[in-house]
Amino acid sequence: MPFQLKHEQIVFSGIKPSGRLNIGGYIGSLSQWAEMQEKYTCLFCVVDYHAITVKQKPSDLEKWTLELVKTYLAAGVNPKKSILFRQSDLSAHTELAWILNCTAHMADLKKMTQFKEKSLGQKETVSVGLFTYPVLMAADILLHQTDIVPVGEDQKQHVELARDLAKRFNNEYGRVFEIPESVVRKNGARIMSLQDPFKKMSKSENGAGCIDLLEDIEEARKKIRRAVTDSGNQIKYDKKNKPAISNLLTIYSHLSRRSIDEIEKEYEGKGYGDFKKDLEGVVVDFLSAFQKNYNKISDQEALKILEAGRERAEEMAQKTLVKVKKLIGIK
Ligand code: TYM
Repeated sequence: MPFQLKHEQIVFSGIKPSGRLNIGGYIGSLSQWAEMQEKYTCLFCVVDYHAITVKQKPSDLEKWTLELVKTYLAAGVNPKKSILFRQSDLSAHTELAWILNCTAHMADLKKMTQFKEKSLGQKETVSVGLFTYPVLMAADILLHQTDIVPVGEDQKQHVELARDLAKRFNNEYGRVFEIPESVVRKNGARIMSLQDPFKKMSKSENGAGCIDLLEDIEEARKKIRRAVTDSGNQIKYDKKNKPAISNLLTIYSHLSRRSIDEIEKEYEGKGYGDFKKDLEGVVVDFLSAFQKNYNKISDQEALKILEAGRERAEEMAQKTLVKVKKLIGIK
């Protein structure tokens, strides 16, 4: 069946190929995508220019990119329903980013908490790219006339910036951009480290606190066994007093597709030992099924899908870019 854009609202999301995606990124963002493609016109992007804001080995970038395409597919993204493409295949993203850099204020970017966190300790040698990267993200979103952006909590502020830049540009030059909205899960928007429930589970950590989607199964078991818990022994969702168990309950709930209420009831009168043993099973079942899907996809297939996605994404991108350039006086 030929590809058709049949839904009115547009969804855009992306992940950086700077390493393997962990279950935090899966729960916070990627796990929402397959369902969305039934209702919306979806563009899912491997945002490789974002990955170079911190030093990358060039050979790794290509490897992570292909892995990420296969990860999207294994999570249910269907290239017959969605547009799956690589950011650097469309020069319009970086072109629009430059134009929006001239709309963004220093004050907008100085507020970004992720920059403050990531640049900590780097002082004057931190890359300018890391500072302006939220503007590139705004360009990704606005270029495709996006309505909805499914992301984890850490990216919400960046989508707010995209909204502000869209409004500012529209006011100054004439209406060209849609105003996007982030969709952030009520529960699961910020999965925490298994070793420290006050720290986000993150790609860069990559130790005992973080489980990758492509993690070795035995390693994953060990990480769940070693996951920290709280004092007491009740299995109860209570973020303030039981941050570690609440995080584990959230992971359990998303990976087993069962509600937290239901899980809490099941463990009434039982202790952390029983709960963690079963969570180990939930994580292992989930990872095994995911990796089985992943291993069915070849690199060649992934490359072909990117090529087809590039052609489809190019059309809307060029339409927006041409309008924007005309408005600012560049032919
Ligand atoms: P990135 O690659 O760091 O993360 C990918 C997505 O995963 C979410 N996420 C999490 N969610 C819950 N718990 C966690 N521990 C966790 N870790 C990561 C992130 O919020 C994100 O949604 N700048 C973006 C990529 C990007 C983008 C875009 C996203 C570039 N352009 C346009 C949406 C639209 C980033 O670095 O995400």
